Amino acid sequence: MKKARLAIIGCGGIGEYHLGHFLEFTDIIDMVGFCDLIKEKAEAFCQKAGTGEVFTDYREMLDTVKPELVFVCVPPYCHGQIEYDLIDRGIHFFVEKPLALDLELAKDILLKAEKKGLVTASGFQCRYSNLVEPNLEYIKNHKIFYVDCTRFGGIPHMDWWRKKAISGGQAVEQTIHQYDIIRYVFGEPETVFSMNARGLLEKKPEGYDTDDLSVTCVRFKDGSLGTIGTGCYVDKGNSFDSKIVFSSESSRAELKILSSFKVYGEARKEAADEGGFVVKGDGAVVNSADDLIEYKQIGDAGVLCDRTFIEAVINGTPEKVRSPYRDALRSLAFTMACNISMESGLPVNIDSLLEGI
Ligand SMILES: NC(=O)c1ccc[n+]([C@@H]2O[C@H](COP(=O)([O-])OP(=O)(O)OC[C@H]3O[C@@H](n4cnc5c(N)ncnc54)[C@H](O)[C@@H]3O)[C@@H](O)[C@H]2O)c1
Repeated sequence: MKKARLAIIGCGGIGEYHLGHFLEFTDIIDMVGFCDLIKEKAEAFCQKAGTGEVFTDYREMLDTVKPELVFVCVPPYCHGQIEYDLIDRGIHFFVEKPLALDLELAKDILLKAEKKGLVTASGFQCRYSNLVEPNLEYIKNHKIFYVDCTRFGGIPHMDWWRKKAISGGQAVEQTIHQYDIIRYVFGEPETVFSMNARGLLEKKPEGYDTDDLSVTCVRFKDGSLGTIGTGCYVDKGNSFDSKIVFSSESSRAELKILSSFKVYGEARKEAADEGGFVVKGDGAVVNSADDLIEYKQIGDAGVLCDRTFIEAVINGTPEKVRSPYRDALRSLAFTMACNISMESGLPVNIDSLLEGI
């Protein structure tokens, strides 16, 4: 297979995650450039890769090493000009979630990138998890009435994360993974109605001005309902929580993204002939005593996510990318609608935010 010239803009936390994958992809890429505003960060990446050049100005990098594809791994508030410069030069790009904090900007980027015929992708690696298949199968075979999603954790260390105006807040910046996977495995939302709570957290880091938590009611296009609760006030491991429960008449399924997928209420019939406990061919464990069928995450879904995008560029197979820019924009709109609702105190229709694309 032909090798593609790859560069990274933003050598921080998520950049390092991708770099770890790139080191396994020497059969399909040449890492030609590493750019960060902080030179030492780019240098550390370059040293780890053992190849490529270091830059602090991404335009200089693009024009010097001429990459065919770029991973954009900058914080949420830094999007816009970078993508326009990539589009102008005809460079395919992978953008970390959230795509941007301005939907009109993201729509404009989408239309310009599509006009140029570029292959795009975004950082929704959960779509490539082995848990997606049994989850899709469950949804196909059950009528879901209610989706109950929670994500509760602590405050990430990055300074920008604590300021809602530049991070987007937790729903947009973090819980967007859950919003996105709900869309991917279940269906499209029609309307959201969200409330946020502030000022409850007593011990907060400097500069913190974001929501302690938010709760969103969702009406899906098929008429079912959901709730998505998310908070960053939790500070002990055992009080962290993150799951999505799909509730049907006869059973319920619980997805912990990149961790496990469990079905409650269907194991007894499957395991009855096997003495109550079986390991199925696909690795799922069936335990009739707990009435549980459990699937575990296998491997790093991010490897497949990154490789699929790179191969899509090399082979001209954009349809294989599970989260192209156009689709990621819908997940952004889902979360941005929540922010708008928190501000206005009114329900927000999601399609109304997507007019023009
Ligand atoms: N897909 C995932 O699971 C996942 C996980 C973590 C973070 N993220 C996303 O990745 C993005 C970055 O998060 P992070 O944790 O890596 O942040 P970070 O602060 O650790 O790193 C961002 C880096 O970008 C650099 N940067 C900013 N503007 C730049 C520019 N114009 N040119 C070059 N470098 C620039 C900064 O100097 C910094 O080193 C966020 O949008 C976040 O939501 C995604």
